Amino acid sequence: MWGGRFAEGPAAVMREINASIPFDKRLWRQDIAGSKAHVAMLGKQGIVSTADAETITGGLATIESEYAERGVPVDLALEDIHMVTETRLAELIGPAAGRLHTARSRNDQVATDFKLWVRDAIDSVEAGLKALQTVLVTRAGEHAASVMPGFTHLQVAQPVTLGHHLMAYYEMIGRDRSRFADARARLNRCPLGSAALAGTGFPIDRQMTAAALGFDAPTDNSLDSVSDRDFALDYLMAATQASLHLSRLAEEFIIWASQPYAFVSLPDSYSTGSSIMPQKRNPDAAELVRGHSGRIAGCMMALTMTMKGLPLAYSKDMQDDKPPVFEAHDLLALSIAAMTGMVEKVTFNTSRLRQAAEAGFSTATDLADWLVRVADVPFREAHHITGTAVKLAEREGVALDKLPIEALKAIDARIDDRVYQALSVDASVASRRSHGGTAPDQVRERIAQAKAVLGID
Ligand code: ARG
Repeated sequence: MWGGRFAEGPAAVMREINASIPFDKRLWRQDIAGSKAHVAMLGKQGIVSTADAETITGGLATIESEYAERGVPVDLALEDIHMVTETRLAELIGPAAGRLHTARSRNDQVATDFKLWVRDAIDSVEAGLKALQTVLVTRAGEHAASVMPGFTHLQVAQPVTLGHHLMAYYEMIGRDRSRFADARARLNRCPLGSAALAGTGFPIDRQMTAAALGFDAPTDNSLDSVSDRDFALDYLMAATQASLHLSRLAEEFIIWASQPYAFVSLPDSYSTGSSIMPQKRNPDAAELVRGHSGRIAGCMMALTMTMKGLPLAYSKDMQDDKPPVFEAHDLLALSIAAMTGMVEKVTFNTSRLRQAAEAGFSTATDLADWLVRVADVPFREAHHITGTAVKLAEREGVALDKLPIEALKAIDARIDDRVYQALSVDASVASRRSHGGTAPDQVRERIAQAKAVLGID
């Protein structure tokens, strides 16, 4: 394709380091779509004859079905998906194939292909995240009033509802979806027609190719068009953040499934056994989701480092953009699917969750709040009085609401038996009705809104 000025062919190692076909064959659908749009435009503009444009289009359709049936042949000598396809086109239709690359370079071609691929990747991630949100909301609906301990520092803090906890992940995944939507909107300008770096002297119609490929408009600077990989980085950064959320949920499932916690029982279908310890049921899927998030962040860092300091316009370093994006996408898609399955099938041990919520003096804040509300004690003083009560309960080995009223009164005379109403975990969660709080009626409201947004009943 480019051998005219060379006296000698490439060394074997040159071939190997240069070739991207082993991985960029994944772009074949996008490459053919881009070529079809390009040649239709060349034909319409009279840059190639209508007859040649038709022959080329027919040849591309044949190659498309060949790839669909048999896969893309990997020939390192042909470097990349663009050359493999063009070479096959020449075999199929002869010299007319040589006209396809008029007013185009592999630099704008690959930028276009890759944008199309990332756009599809975003759409599939978006669908997966929406499905995950749907199961989160459904499970949250079952547990809008199930009490569990809320933690800070992984120490029991205050009772919350399990529905509230699950809806926290609904919020996180919602932000992920909006990051992907953002990335998609920013990506959607078509670089095709920027040629190698400077544009072209041929009378091309960039609006036409942009529209044919579903882009909003052509890009506005040819140098930027062929050297921009922001869209891939946007994808990787959104993927990294989404994978962090999945990893945090995975981590919670791992802890919760541990016997001393026993908050959940993970489904058999997402667990594995041990080859030596017959009793074991390990949360491998959750652990791998947690692990994959590290690899996804690594992919993001890899491309960040590749792009750092590259002068305009295209440099071959940029060929290294694809493996991290492909890898991150595969890992993310698997992670989303695995977490969706786990959330759907996990069994929550509600009596154990309640028992854990009742331990650890989780309603101490409620006692302090009661002193403020009912006895008009300043909060700092109420905090101190409650601390004394907790110390006593701890010494006696009882829960706060099991301390006799005389003992409480001895700590502060303003306490009376109405306080017990505030000390149960149910009263505690029910009282937290501030917007976004954990009270079951608040949680149910949020779930109803979420269902409306997701379009589920
Ligand atoms: N395989 C190359 C890539 O992935 C295509 C662009 C090559 N352009 C060039 N001038 N060598 O980036």
